[in-house]
Amino acid sequence: MNILVTGKSGQLGVEIEKIHTNYSKHNFIFKDKIELDITNFNNLNEFFKNNDIKLIINCAAYTDVNGAEIEKKIANKVNNLGVENLSLICKNFNCKIIHISTDYVFDGLKNQPYKETDLTNPINYYGFSKLEGEKKILKSNINALIIRTSWLYSSNKNNFFSNIIKKAESMDKINVVNDQIGSPTSAHELAKICIYLSTANFKWGGGPKIYNFSNEGMCSWYEFAKAIILLKKIPCNIIPIKSNKIKNNIIRPKYSVLDKSKIKQDFNISPNNWYDSLKLEIIRK
Ligand SMILES: NC(=O)c1ccc[n+]([C@@H]2O[C@H](COP(=O)([O-])OP(=O)(O)OC[C@H]3O[C@@H](n4cnc5c(N)ncnc54)[C@H](OP(=O)(O)O)[C@@H]3O)[C@@H](O)[C@H]2O)c1
Repeated sequence: MNILVTGKSGQLGVEIEKIHTNYSKHNFIFKDKIELDITNFNNLNEFFKNNDIKLIINCAAYTDVNGAEIEKKIANKVNNLGVENLSLICKNFNCKIIHISTDYVFDGLKNQPYKETDLTNPINYYGFSKLEGEKKILKSNINALIIRTSWLYSSNKNNFFSNIIKKAESMDKINVVNDQIGSPTSAHELAKICIYLSTANFKWGGGPKIYNFSNEGMCSWYEFAKAIILLKKIPCNIIPIKSNKIKNNIIRPKYSVLDKSKIKQDFNISPNNWYDSLKLEIIRK
């Protein structure tokens, strides 16, 4: 089976490319934004005419939460209209899709893990655009798994994890917010889940389904940063601050822990605790 991975140069795409041969015998085709832009329907259509793709793993997205407030048009084009293109392509070419979405579709006002069925109410444009993308898949009624994840990190790309390490190596102290709670998720582990779901022997059908996946447990960004520098053994003071103390702060959910009961039950998946996964990431690096 041919599996297309879009957005191959991002955190998740890189991880899938790195490990897929260890976990799957299927033929994975990796494309970056230049090679296959999900916002260009004609190019997608040509590509699908010439390649017998049975499944898409969509890692392509506009993920800059701050940037999305300024570049709303681009965020919408990629996260909403790009996903609509992929839905149409799936319909026309009888293809399935694993699409990645986000905890930021929620407003963060709960204090218990969010279930897939909880009411969505994004509070920033990134979350809004991702939710619009989800809606396009749901409306198209194709065979789809929408995987909502949170606080994705890896050693390979620019993200919170790598930024904290970079800053800690050159600064004595770093301010990090302690009033947003979530679950860091290893891109390596999400990559394994995507590969597993794409090749697992289960019956697709009955239209799109939403699943939550993140590492287990929860912490604040402050606790996450402290754990990173502790495990990396970098001497640096991490100072807890409130998010309203950050200049030009973009509003983010205060609490976005995801309830993973559904994916655990339906696919027999047991996510690692975030701290254990972080240790493994640091060893792998
Ligand atoms: N990062 C997080 O904390 C987080 C949290 C929850 C959910 N997610 C979701 O998880 C998924 C993977 O995230 P990630 O962290 O791996 O993102 P990422 O590192 O930002 O990667 C996204 C990739 O998509 C590419 N891309 C952008 N526009 C495109 C287009 N029009 N066509 C094709 N490719 C395009 C980007 O290329 P350029 O870099 O060249 O633009 C980038 O390589 C996304 O759906 C994201 O919304 C992420």
